[in-house]
Amino acid sequence: MLKNLLPMPIRNQLRPTWQTMRRNWRENPASPTPAEWKPVRERAHRETDFDVLLGMAQDEFGITQVRTEISALIDRLRALQPQVIVEVGTHKGGNSFLFCNAVTSGQLVVGVDLCVQNGDKLVHFTRKGQRYYPLHGDSQTEAMKARVQAKLGGRAVDFLFIDGDHSYKGVKADFDLYAPLVRPGGIIALHDIVADHRTRYGRETGCYAGEVHQFWQELKERYDCEDLVENPEQDGFGIGVVRVR
Ligand SMILES: C[S@@+](CC[C@H](N)C(=O)[O-])C[C@H]1O[C@@H](n2cnc3c(N)ncnc32)[C@H](O)[C@@H]1O
Repeated sequence: MLKNLLPMPIRNQLRPTWQTMRRNWRENPASPTPAEWKPVRERAHRETDFDVLLGMAQDEFGITQVRTEISALIDRLRALQPQVIVEVGTHKGGNSFLFCNAVTSGQLVVGVDLCVQNGDKLVHFTRKGQRYYPLHGDSQTEAMKARVQAKLGGRAVDFLFIDGDHSYKGVKADFDLYAPLVRPGGIIALHDIVADHRTRYGRETGCYAGEVHQFWQELKERYDCEDLVENPEQDGFGIGVVRVR
């Protein structure tokens, strides 16, 4: 292999890049070419109807949201007009797609996940003047925070969406690390603030909302918060909105 000819310090420096390239290829080896994405992207860029865009987020990427909840969040973001957006826990990328295409003010969008699925496709679906940076790795580290900050280039975050590790420790770590990057007047949203039925009734349903609800109750005592919940009896889901002062 050509890389074996390189000196060890350089090989070590390049290792994370090779690992990311290998992971991207393994993740989506038969992805369609950008030429096939182009007409869909053009349709997305012309579209303003939220429901149509949500359908595209589902069909083209995959998204795990209750329609009325994500719609209410997008309404608030359309009012806020965020330019700098950070999403922790992108999964298949449906939310990132919406944050770029249903909220068109976004200029700089950073997505963090252990493995950001559909990263290339998300980059392809950005609009004119937008940049999307998929960052693979553990969000709960100072090293990842530094990588996010490097992409932000000194700009404050207008909107932070947290939907990564759902353990109490995990969601708190994400909040504690990334919330200080959000500017006064900005919004932080947490997904899965409603406890799932396993937690509430000991009934296994396959839905997992973890312990986000516990952390959410703590935030509600400290911040200006709003619950976007379709039905308080539902099994998980629910979006919590924090308005940063
Ligand atoms: C519930 S999914 C996110 C769903 C997505 N927001 C949606 O609505 O479609 C949680 C994601 O968090 C990611 N995740 C879990 N722990 C993480 C960590 N420590 N660092 C980064 N990402 C993490 C998982 O890989 C997974 O993709």
